[in-house]
Amino acid sequence: MKIVRTISEVRQYVKEWRSQGLTVGLVPTMGYLHEGHQSLIAAAVKGNDRVVVSVFVNPKQFGPAEDLASYPRDLEKDAALCEATGAHLLFHPEPSEMYPQGHCAFADVEELGKVLCGKTRPIHFRGVCTVIVKLANIVMPDRMYFGQKDAQQLTIVRRLARDLNMPVEIVGCPIVRETDGLAKSSRNAYLNPEERRAAVILSRAIAAGKATAQNGTVTPDEIREIMLRTLAEEPAANVEYVEIVDSQTLLPVDNLNGPILVAIAVRIGKTRLIDNFTLPE
Ligand code: PAF
Repeated sequence: MKIVRTISEVRQYVKEWRSQGLTVGLVPTMGYLHEGHQSLIAAAVKGNDRVVVSVFVNPKQFGPAEDLASYPRDLEKDAALCEATGAHLLFHPEPSEMYPQGHCAFADVEELGKVLCGKTRPIHFRGVCTVIVKLANIVMPDRMYFGQKDAQQLTIVRRLARDLNMPVEIVGCPIVRETDGLAKSSRNAYLNPEERRAAVILSRAIAAGKATAQNGTVTPDEIREIMLRTLAEEPAANVEYVEIVDSQTLLPVDNLNGPILVAIAVRIGKTRLIDNFTLPE
């Protein structure tokens, strides 16, 4: 596996692969890779002849008071995981390579980026959309892989690709969890042992919501109520939202017909964690 830092190097590799008629998968990441990312890379390796993993902590998706500077980084470990999982190229650009001086073009999805996490992270999804369009234009992959853990991001990227006619298939992959249920996330590294113990409340609330939803006659409000009650059992949990929305529009629903996303965001200490489940599963 090769590690490259410039757009022109990526393009040379992809051009060569294309000339051989090979298909290309892209797994965009911000690094500090864990088993969740690994499952995306493995899916990409299975579905494509060549796989590019990008490791880029995208400054445009962090608000001024967010964790850009402290976001965990470990390129050596990331490269080892990519190589062991069968990736062919790791793209690790500097911010100046992606956003040279004077950069002023953005991609956005308007309302879809203003709900759920967008309420407290107003510029986040504009930054995500922009870097996704850029990476897609740089690599020109057949398929791009995203985790269902970031459910709003997955909905938004699907819409972005559809509305901008991006010639790429968006593939969503299931959430990967720790043995106690906590969804894998690079930000779990911020949790001290006490917070790590408390963080299991997110997956408990998800499990409680899912179990309640098994009862076909339940309403969205009832699911929400049960989940809020579960979260209230953990004093260290500060709930940002528990929302039950249409998976595609991300707007609240008053019944459970059609594809539903049940999403939560909770702060444990200073760390903001998210989790979700979908109906039907
Ligand atoms: O999910 C992430 O890690 C990031 O939002 C992504 C998709 C790599 C874009 O920077």
